[in-house]
Amino acid sequence: MCRPTYFDVTYSINPWMDPSVPTSADTGLAQWKRLHDAYVALGHDVALIEPVPGLPDMVFSANGATVVDGRVLVARFRHRQRVDESAAYLDWFRADGWAEVHQAEYVNEGEGDFLLVGGQLLAGSGFRSDPRAHDEAREFFGLPVLGLTLVDPRFYHLDTALSVLGPDEIMYYPEAFDEAGRRVLAERFPDAILADEAAAATFGLNALSDGRHVLLPERAVPLLGPQLRERGYVPQGIDLTELLKAGGNTKCCTLELRR
Ligand code: ARG
Repeated sequence: MCRPTYFDVTYSINPWMDPSVPTSADTGLAQWKRLHDAYVALGHDVALIEPVPGLPDMVFSANGATVVDGRVLVARFRHRQRVDESAAYLDWFRADGWAEVHQAEYVNEGEGDFLLVGGQLLAGSGFRSDPRAHDEAREFFGLPVLGLTLVDPRFYHLDTALSVLGPDEIMYYPEAFDEAGRRVLAERFPDAILADEAAAATFGLNALSDGRHVLLPERAVPLLGPQLRERGYVPQGIDLTELLKAGGNTKCCTLELRR
């Protein structure tokens, strides 16, 4: 995770970001801290990367890399405002002693667009990640990659439209994907939880599951909670409304380190 010390909305690279709406770094920090503390209370180890001044979106650490089996593919960002984050992640992983650290050649925004489920990487494109990055990830991780095209600008990263809940279970908002993507998801995950527009619009799919607890935006709990509980998950609401002003939430703030 990355503390939102320099959090702000000074530019707009997604439809949620409006620089004329005031933000508070203090509120952002207090909300972020509750997410951090919730992970710790659930017994998870949380590593921190030092925030860099001038990189207000760095709090969204999910975008920094994709990490599977100790192999680290460091992101290459689409927008110039975030390009310098890559160097910070490269340095962090090297300093932390990870052996296989590779700077991606093609634009990919880490776990914003790559999600691991059932031994397969689901890979979003359409707004941020370059489809060529899907092949790069396939080669680098030696995993099958399933490309999915996003079509609704509000859900510009895969992790805003789809959430991995368990070893082979997901929830998603079908309308965020093109026809082919919807078809492929319906075939591959016939038992998925389907979210409606209202749930997606609360950023409810930007959730983080540890296989039992599902941390998600507080406002999404009444909408997705019943279906999650039915399947044995424990939904836990987190208020990250300040960070939502930048178009991010629970999952965006969390990069999973799979050793
Ligand atoms: N303002 C950031 C951007 O547009 C938000 C990133 C959200 N991260 C995510 N994993 N969806 O890049």
